[in-house]
Amino acid sequence: MAPAAEEHPQDPRRIRAMFDAVAPRYDLMNDIMSFGIHRRWKRRLRRMAGKPFGRGLALDLAGGTGDIADELSDGGWAVVVCDASEGMMATGRDRNAGPRVRWVGGDAERLPFPDGTFDLVTLGFGLRNFRDRDAALAEIVRVLAPEGRFLCLEFSTPARPIRGLYRSYSRRMIPRLGAAVAGKPEAYRYLIDSIADFPDQRTLVGWFQQAGLTDVRYRNLMFGIAAIHGGRRPAAHP
Ligand SMILES: C[S@@+](CC[C@H](N)C(=O)[O-])C[C@H]1O[C@@H](n2cnc3c(N)ncnc32)[C@H](O)[C@@H]1O
Repeated sequence: MAPAAEEHPQDPRRIRAMFDAVAPRYDLMNDIMSFGIHRRWKRRLRRMAGKPFGRGLALDLAGGTGDIADELSDGGWAVVVCDASEGMMATGRDRNAGPRVRWVGGDAERLPFPDGTFDLVTLGFGLRNFRDRDAALAEIVRVLAPEGRFLCLEFSTPARPIRGLYRSYSRRMIPRLGAAVAGKPEAYRYLIDSIADFPDQRTLVGWFQQAGLTDVRYRNLMFGIAAIHGGRRPAAHP
């Protein structure tokens, strides 16, 4: 029997409430858990995005507190952050993401933008949290301009030699840090479970191609602990 909507691990209301609750400590927790490495990954994403092209307009979907938006804005892009959690965006606004950043509440599965609006869409650690990932990918392709690019930074499947060590660090340490720093161990248990349930690099390539993206490639970060997948909306998309 299919689980009731509210039992789905990525139930949108549950996910939104969880991010609203961790928002004030979200950035600090990321810095502690990853020893600051997530910032290097986000800088890498910015380098892969390159210089602005087209109208220079980027969407940072599930942009949270705006780390990636800050990076893109420093690189000359005008950025719209779209996120389901008002709490995450409020934390980002308070921290003062750059002047070229706008904030819009919205759901990845029904983006509040017309077709072909953005030259670039970025998605950092968001895809894992969406209930209907196919619907979100279809929306991303819809809002991309022809020849527009999509870059997705997400946890992935690490190389075999480090897999055991990484999983044991995650299972033992992250919920404890979540309890000590954010006061929310359950949110950080969800993080570990959602990473473990997420498909590997090659499966994601297939999803992106299925959604209509071309030139789909990925780069592993830290032996595949995370990966950045990229693709392009073809000039002619049905
Ligand atoms: C792990 S955080 C990532 C934030 C930021 N991109 C980063 O890299 O630090 C995931 C974000 O996805 C947002 N999110 C989850 N489900 C969403 C949905 N269906 N639509 C839009 N945003 C969503 C959450 O509110 C949260 O801010």
